[in-house]
Amino acid sequence: MIKKITKAILPVAGLGTRFLPATKVQPKEMLPVVDKPVIQYLVEEVVAAGIEEIIFVTGREKRAIEDHFDVAPGLESVLEKQGKPELAKLIRDISNLASFSYVRQKQALGDGQALLEARKLIAPDESVLVVFGDCLFDNSIPGSKELLQSFEKFNAPIVGLAEIAKSEVAKFGVIDGKKIDDVHYGIKAFVEKPSAEKAPSTIVAPGKYVITPEVFETLADLAVSKKFSGELRLANAFDEMLKSGHEIYGRLLSGTWLDTGDKFSFLKANIHMALKHPEIGSKLAEYIKAIKLEK
Ligand code: UTP
Repeated sequence: MIKKITKAILPVAGLGTRFLPATKVQPKEMLPVVDKPVIQYLVEEVVAAGIEEIIFVTGREKRAIEDHFDVAPGLESVLEKQGKPELAKLIRDISNLASFSYVRQKQALGDGQALLEARKLIAPDESVLVVFGDCLFDNSIPGSKELLQSFEKFNAPIVGLAEIAKSEVAKFGVIDGKKIDDVHYGIKAFVEKPSAEKAPSTIVAPGKYVITPEVFETLADLAVSKKFSGELRLANAFDEMLKSGHEIYGRLLSGTWLDTGDKFSFLKANIHMALKHPEIGSKLAEYIKAIKLEK
């Protein structure tokens, strides 16, 4: 029987260089999309998928994330005194979303190295969900839930997938895969930042995965043998595993991918979610229509 997945690792120790100077002392994962930090959307997503324990891999200048998911009795009592019990509850509920643990990555040596830091909190036979800190989706079914369903079907590593425009492929790792059904692919290779002409597909991995004990083992072997250049990335482990004949599956995630890792996509994500927001959606739509820019 396949062991149920109950833990998610959220690596949030990256430097966020694409957002400097905003991320000099502030985690990019705490930047708000409308009125909620990106990381809270992601935590709510994994909780909606049935995850009970969340492990953050944090680093320098990331304390705000720990504080955000902690209790805030001072703020709560001020809100209660001000006659705003619904806001006090909103604040309290954040700390009750799941059980949170934190491990530290001393240096930003890659998302794969960050996952190895969390390995000590994972049993040797345990598979886990992994969600990168900038991988937001607007969907009615949580992407994490879709990945867990796919894991139950294949009992192998699962890579969340999204389709992008051909003109965008040069910015991403693109998959070469064999279609299995409407949403699943058997992955043959990841092609890093191909030109539009050379890209084997327009399908990329936005940053949600299920990883198995074999993935951790491969990452650990790579860390020892140093058979990678620059940062140790999860993608390096997948490459290595595919070369040695392991099966890795991809799952097209439903909904709209709202990347929050770079300035332009982040603004798009904010506009997208703001237009859906009951309080400000229609006002924003009118504002956008009426914008006049000074020359
Ligand atoms: P990114 O590739 O988006 O890197 O990381 P980044 O550092 O956050 O941002 P840029 O590219 O410098 O602008 C993908 C995920 O992996 C985490 C990040 O926090 C993000 O959630 N990560 C990355 C780590 O935890 N440690 C690392 O060493 C690198």
